[in-house]
Amino acid sequence: MPRAHPGNRPDAAEIGSGGETRPQFSGPSLPPEAIAEHISVDSNYGEGSTDRDDADSAFFDRESSTASLTESIFNYQYENGRRYHAFRAGAYPLPNDEAEQDRMDMQHHIYLLIFGGNLYQAPIPQQIERALDIGCGTGLWAIDFADMHPEASVIATDLSSIQPSWIPPNLRFEIDDAEEDWSYSYKFDYIHIRSMAGSIANWPKLMRQAYDFLKPGGWIELTDFETWAHTDDNTLPETSAYHEFQVKLNEAAIKFGKEMNVAPKLRGFVKDAGFVNVVEDARKVPLSPWPQDPRLKELAMYMNLQMMESIEPYSLALFSRVLKWDKERINTLLDGVRRDLKNLNYHMYSIVHCVYAQKPLES
Ligand SMILES: C[S@@+](CC[C@H](N)C(=O)[O-])C[C@H]1O[C@@H](n2cnc3c(N)ncnc32)[C@H](O)[C@@H]1O
Repeated sequence: MPRAHPGNRPDAAEIGSGGETRPQFSGPSLPPEAIAEHISVDSNYGEGSTDRDDADSAFFDRESSTASLTESIFNYQYENGRRYHAFRAGAYPLPNDEAEQDRMDMQHHIYLLIFGGNLYQAPIPQQIERALDIGCGTGLWAIDFADMHPEASVIATDLSSIQPSWIPPNLRFEIDDAEEDWSYSYKFDYIHIRSMAGSIANWPKLMRQAYDFLKPGGWIELTDFETWAHTDDNTLPETSAYHEFQVKLNEAAIKFGKEMNVAPKLRGFVKDAGFVNVVEDARKVPLSPWPQDPRLKELAMYMNLQMMESIEPYSLALFSRVLKWDKERINTLLDGVRRDLKNLNYHMYSIVHCVYAQKPLES
């Protein structure tokens, strides 16, 4: 059964004024064609920023503040210097510590940059009754969505209780495993699933449950990055550390039982589940600031920082637990990956896939 999150802020207008220390990014929004088209290479390379704001300390203020949060949620597991979730320990291979929370927050802002500041793309009505965010992480998306839809009751679930306490009154965080049988006593108008690559063992079951718990005519939206770097000009050698990293990461995730590179499959997942009016928006996102276009270059600078912060959390547990590599071997590969991410002769990009679809009205 889901457990309710302790915090509820009294007034939505207070967001950003009461101890919020989340990093805020602003930047250019990208018209779809800028990403869909061939990307020109800049021959005068720039440099990315490596600054990172402090983590939100609100988390430490709220533990054990209600009876509904038990030790099983906060009894975190520590491994290789990183902190992992306690509820359903071992189920999700990425950490939940402050560095990871910062990374998730930065990724939220990168999604906003990519999609022109839009929180979602599905054409949901202006007034909805209920929305669900699966695997909400630090909850920034859910907070923004709840602020944008004050008429709606929003539930956001995660294995980790890493969400802030001061939240819109129409939002509730719950600690829950999305792979368990859902027990909601109502149906949703909209279900949002973002960056769940490597989190889900049984996508058809997740899609089936989402279908069953949507109202007829309700929308589902899934967004994720491919965990595979493409180039249009074959500039990433197969002998590179980055290439080895992505091959091993995807291999280890499959062995672990939670495939990582699911983004290209999202469209098929929703179609197979019976959703209709399926729309896919796929965009190229450069992994380092090699493009000439200044808007793409700026996005790529954020993306490069995000990649630098992602490679360890994504691989550490999978490489050590599944591939049985020791820390030295992992570090050697990751050092090489960091060098490759700084090598602007490698014109790498990922593809972000946003898929939205509707439950048929007659269902
Ligand atoms: C990469 S984060 C994405 C967070 C958020 N959706 C976003 O886009 O910023 C993945 C999140 O999914 C959560 N997660 C993984 N497996 C889960 C599961 N079976 N049920 C619920 N949450 C899960 C993790 O704890 C983590 O917070």
